[in-house]
Amino acid sequence: MIKKHFSLLMAGVLLAGALSACGQKAAAPAPESTAAPVAGSEAASTSAAESETTGTSAAKSETASTPAAESEAAAAPAGESGSSDAVSGATSTAAAESGADVDMVTSASVVPGEVMEDYTPKGFTDGEAKKALFVVADPRYATVTRVLANTAMSHLEDKGVEVEVRDLYAIGFDPVLSAEDFYYAKDGIGEPTDAVKTEQEYVTKADYLIFVYPNWHDTPTAMAKGYMEKVFAKKFAYQDLPGGGLEGLLTGKGMYTIMNCGYLGGGRGWIGDGVGIEDEKWDRYMEAFKVFDDDTAAFWGVENLGRFVNDRTPANSSEQYSQELEELKGTLIEHLDRVFFS
Ligand SMILES: Cc1cc2nc3c(=O)[nH]c(=O)nc-3n(C[C@H](O)[C@H](O)[C@H](O)COP(=O)(O)O)c2cc1C
Repeated sequence: MIKKHFSLLMAGVLLAGALSACGQKAAAPAPESTAAPVAGSEAASTSAAESETTGTSAAKSETASTPAAESEAAAAPAGESGSSDAVSGATSTAAAESGADVDMVTSASVVPGEVMEDYTPKGFTDGEAKKALFVVADPRYATVTRVLANTAMSHLEDKGVEVEVRDLYAIGFDPVLSAEDFYYAKDGIGEPTDAVKTEQEYVTKADYLIFVYPNWHDTPTAMAKGYMEKVFAKKFAYQDLPGGGLEGLLTGKGMYTIMNCGYLGGGRGWIGDGVGIEDEKWDRYMEAFKVFDDDTAAFWGVENLGRFVNDRTPANSSEQYSQELEELKGTLIEHLDRVFFS
């Protein structure tokens, strides 16, 4: 075990060195300088490590290719998933018993099984209630991204919204826009594949499109991005206007994003929701995401309802882990109430 941790760390160190040599990603402030109160402090040091050592990605991909870890995770339905983690190879039991070990292996969240509550929404009916389609694109299960997705799905259902989830890794969605599929996506030529058609039917029924993913290099995971590229095709999501220009075809819908992050300046929520660490930086990131979200929303003809972004993830080793996770869930719920129910 120690040997495995050591090799993972070495892989991380090597990649961190390589990345910094390539001038990648500005390092987050050192943990000491981000020693902020409560929700900030521990997470700040985790996140600093996260951004600094994107090298953990090396460790991640190395372990992710461990067949045992992979198949275990793939086989784990959302409910049981709290017990395994493909990235760190750690179990959530290990996280609970020895959080420090998990923090050594991965800077990603590994939510302990006893606090990882699964949630299966009831799905859409033919009724009149508003409908929210959750498109979840997270390869792991015992994650804060999943906690945020589950919390939001449960809260929206409590408030009378019908919820359907498309868990892209679980359904094995193929996100690659191949040459074969290109002209359908780009020009609406030909017919969608069955897989794309199925997703378009969900999108058509939905009033809200809610994308949930971790931030990977300041963008959605490739899985989420591929879903957008393939499903929101021309003549389905937008079309040419006779006099030139485009018009969105998905009018009346709202688009909202839930994104978990390593470190973007310290915040939970959206523009203006920095937690006093680097608020200007936080707002710059949120404004940048807004530029892209506004553009995508305009393309598709939907309303951009904004984002809930979190970079204050409790450290895996935190002794107040459950409490901190509950605080995070509470902040998300307040945000959802403002966006969807006020
Ligand atoms: C390939 C990769 C790239 C990442 N890039 C960023 C990044 O650009 N900015 C950031 O804040 N976090 C980045 N992260 C950190 C993830 O956002 C973080 O691990 C994730 O939100 C943790 O939540 P999770 O445990 O729910 O996955 C990256 C992680 C990976 C694996």
